[in-house]
Amino acid sequence: MAIEQTLTNQERLAELGLDQLQQLVGLVEYDEQGDPFPVTGWDAVVWAVGNATQAAAFYQLAFGMELVAYSGPETGNRDHHAYVLRSGAVRFVLKGGVDPASPVLDHHRRHGDGIVDIALEVPDVDRCIRHARAQGATVLEEPHDVTDEHGTVRLAAIATYGETRHTLVDRSRYTGPYLPGYVARTSGRPPRKRLFQALDHVVGNVELGRMDEWVGFYHRVMGFTNMAEFIGDDIATEYSALMSKVVASGNHRVKFPLNEPAAGKKRSQIDEYLEFYCGPGAQHLALATNDILRTVDALRDAGVEFLPTPDSYYTDPALRARIGEVRVPIEELQARGILVDRDEDGYLLQIFTRPIGDRPTVFFELIERHGSLGFGKGNFQALFEAIEREQARRGNF
Ligand SMILES: [Fe+2]
Repeated sequence: MAIEQTLTNQERLAELGLDQLQQLVGLVEYDEQGDPFPVTGWDAVVWAVGNATQAAAFYQLAFGMELVAYSGPETGNRDHHAYVLRSGAVRFVLKGGVDPASPVLDHHRRHGDGIVDIALEVPDVDRCIRHARAQGATVLEEPHDVTDEHGTVRLAAIATYGETRHTLVDRSRYTGPYLPGYVARTSGRPPRKRLFQALDHVVGNVELGRMDEWVGFYHRVMGFTNMAEFIGDDIATEYSALMSKVVASGNHRVKFPLNEPAAGKKRSQIDEYLEFYCGPGAQHLALATNDILRTVDALRDAGVEFLPTPDSYYTDPALRARIGEVRVPIEELQARGILVDRDEDGYLLQIFTRPIGDRPTVFFELIERHGSLGFGKGNFQALFEAIEREQARRGNF
């Protein structure tokens, strides 16, 4: 029996359908009734950055996102600027401190540009918080209503790894551009063709030995289930290694791979992140596109840098045999450094940017799924070798 799926507010605005989402992010049928902490989907990724005014321009000009809302001194918010950007169902909120005493600046001083909040849309904030509290979660904000002329939003927040939080948002009674306190704002430029449509997953890097604890947190507190597991040797190079497990919400819209460093001969990419982010945090965001070639070309033209993939990756006969037939000639992928992985369900195309800020911390992945619900396990080896060459160039390996 097909179970009725709900579109999120953002997906409706982006005119995305369930079939498209099934293809883009591997949405699955699921019965919300038995879920102690039902999650509809992503609400927003909230960043603290050193210069939100310039970051907002970067994500518009390079990533093709659209400015939709704003909060700042002109709207009565004297603490910080906040720009709300959209691409398809993806919403970023970029915050930069104005008042020298702003907490946004404290966060930035410690962590550099990073993600402070992975906000989730839920149908019942109070039910989620009741369950989370009973399971021992840290409730940072009790459920409360915020209201303006566009209606009412119910919000609460719980703590997750590091200084990251999950704000829970019920916007079913709200029609404004983002949240009360924000005003609609556009760039005035004609909208561009979208470069990505949805958020596929957000990866968290956690401390050595604590991955299972955080997997347990998502099981117990948020009712998430395990997807894939990659452990130890699965993703070890000669020098460094990591362990990774993936948890997902019931409908698989929200997927959280969690990494911890594993022992290697040298410092792993997770250790480097933890050192430069000053603790656990969100490592990468995977943006789902239905045309990764066009997206990569557009981003590269705008100056976004991607991790190079060695030519040997494409000429390796074992890899060619494993990949099989994909929708474009391998040469097209090789020209852009796009990776391919295949499993029993299908294949996926993926590529990773270099870190987007000054610190070697947060970066992006672009992903085009064709049936595969995986995360590119088969590419980890080739990819990590490429990442380690980059670490060595920075003198951190
Ligand atoms: Fe990923």
